[in-house]
Amino acid sequence: MKPLNLKGRLSLCAEYVREGSRLADIGTDHGYLPIALCQSGIIPSALACDINPLPLRSAEKNIADAGLSDRIKTRLSDGLREVGEDEVDDVVIAGMGGELIARIIDGCEWLKNADKRLILQPMTRHDVLVGRLYENGFMIEEQAGVFDSGKYYTVMRVCYNGQAKKCDTYEAVVGRLNPDSEASIGFLTKCLNQLRKQSIGTPSLSETVTRLEELLRENQ
Ligand SMILES: C[S@@+](CC[C@H](N)C(=O)[O-])C[C@H]1O[C@@H](n2cnc3c(N)ncnc32)[C@H](O)[C@@H]1O
Repeated sequence: MKPLNLKGRLSLCAEYVREGSRLADIGTDHGYLPIALCQSGIIPSALACDINPLPLRSAEKNIADAGLSDRIKTRLSDGLREVGEDEVDDVVIAGMGGELIARIIDGCEWLKNADKRLILQPMTRHDVLVGRLYENGFMIEEQAGVFDSGKYYTVMRVCYNGQAKKCDTYEAVVGRLNPDSEASIGFLTKCLNQLRKQSIGTPSLSETVTRLEELLRENQ
């Protein structure tokens, strides 16, 4: 099997994984992320987890084809239920809705550990996820937009600092995003367009729209 070349969403997730960390990829499906990270020597080992047996079998086949069965173990697991605190350093949860990702994090108390990192890539409702992370004492270390298959997404690296706080809609939408790249501007513009539509039925959102317009204008 040729080395995997990740693109778009998964490529940015891979960039945020710390060198040398033991990884758990939750909802691994095909297993491409842990395979590429082991092949490139960024990580020594990984757990490729999925709630469904079928994707896990496809991950197992891809891992075996890559000759990495001794370094990447597969595990049937709902979220992190079957993963132990002492087994992993970094956790990736990518390609699921923001609400589901938030539920998975809520269900794992040992993630409240400043040594662990979460790399999260919600397909939808990233604002719900960010709000819940802040409420539960997590902070966003890094965040950027990414363009993949014709759409803009965001990826964030998160850690626990125990400083729980409530955030408003603007903070939940923007998180740690800076409009300093084409992809981050693209993602924020997508959010702005959605908020403009929502604000027609919910006038209280108009202040958020104005703040986001200003942020994008200042950085043009
Ligand atoms: C769309 S795929 C994403 C695959 C890959 N992470 C990516 O971003 O390309 C979502 C995967 O998450 C798995 N999944 C859904 N809910 C899950 C849960 N609660 N725990 C673990 N895996 C889950 C599904 O079975 C599926 O394989």
